[in-house]
Amino acid sequence: MTHNLLKGKRGIIFGALNSESIAWKVAERCVAEGAQITLSNTPMALRMGELNELSERLNAPIIPADATSVEDLERVFAESVQHFGGPVDFVLHSIGMSPNVRKGRTYDDLDYGYLQKTLDISAISFHKMLQVAKKQDAIAEGGSVVALTYVAAQRTFFGYNDMADAKSMLESIARGFGYIYGREKGVRVNTISQSPTPTTAGKGIKEMENLMDFAGKMSPLGNASADECADYCVMLFSDFTRKVTMQNLYHDGGFSSMGMSLRAMNQYAKDLAPYEDEEGKVIYG
Ligand SMILES: NC(=O)c1ccc[n+]([C@@H]2O[C@H](COP(=O)([O-])OP(=O)(O)OC[C@H]3O[C@@H](n4cnc5c(N)ncnc54)[C@H](O)[C@@H]3O)[C@@H](O)[C@H]2O)c1
Repeated sequence: MTHNLLKGKRGIIFGALNSESIAWKVAERCVAEGAQITLSNTPMALRMGELNELSERLNAPIIPADATSVEDLERVFAESVQHFGGPVDFVLHSIGMSPNVRKGRTYDDLDYGYLQKTLDISAISFHKMLQVAKKQDAIAEGGSVVALTYVAAQRTFFGYNDMADAKSMLESIARGFGYIYGREKGVRVNTISQSPTPTTAGKGIKEMENLMDFAGKMSPLGNASADECADYCVMLFSDFTRKVTMQNLYHDGGFSSMGMSLRAMNQYAKDLAPYEDEEGKVIYG
């Protein structure tokens, strides 16, 4: 069901790689809600070919960019404004990558060159995007910018590695820039902290299936899907959230407020069963 929530609005969606991507679902949902969009991803992602199908179906031009390049980002904003004949109303930053995770470097054995890449791609690119947009005055008064993050920014999760540092920084940038952009141009800046989701980036996280199972058992509403995340993005891009800014908004079925659930406890007990003696005492040795 659609509600025309974004009728007449124009936006830029960064980070749609394939039909599993959260940004892909957001792009589809925004257009279904009446928006016009442009799409952006790296030249390498474009060579994988799937984005063309989305671009044609949604009538959304693709503007290639490495989000770590200020020059590339300047082109994305300038060409989008030119395409629409005016400033954009919303921007989605749905970008993340850690060479340390990719190359199997653990958090106590980081390659610092890779760490800089992780931070540049996954966090500083958000600052670059906001700075470029503000300098070009490319986002209209009352516009809305959203980046996707994960609860590992606040709490430690096995295997999330240096992406946790990147997400902490990303959320901090939303606050720091949100203050200035709000005061000067009335633009909102928020992050959505999404449940684990089976996408290309998501599947790169160690033990992703177990993490999803655990999060699902902990969350009273279960894990939030990519489609549900797209709905939440639409809400944040819409005029119904005009005074929401500088927030990290959990979209995780309640996971972030839980300590322990019956379902998770039950699973935990089952896992220990093979290690219990006849009296139920756990043997750790
Ligand atoms: N999947 C999850 O479990 C999950 C949970 C919470 C938050 N997130 C966040 O959601 C966002 C989107 O990820 P996804 O899960 O849809 O996976 P995805 O792999 O579909 O998307 C990641 C995107 O980042 C792009 N990218 C990588 N390097 C880039 C660069 N230098 N310049 C521009 N783009 C670049 C990729 O091409 C890809 O399109 C990420 O920020 C991710 O951390 C994902």
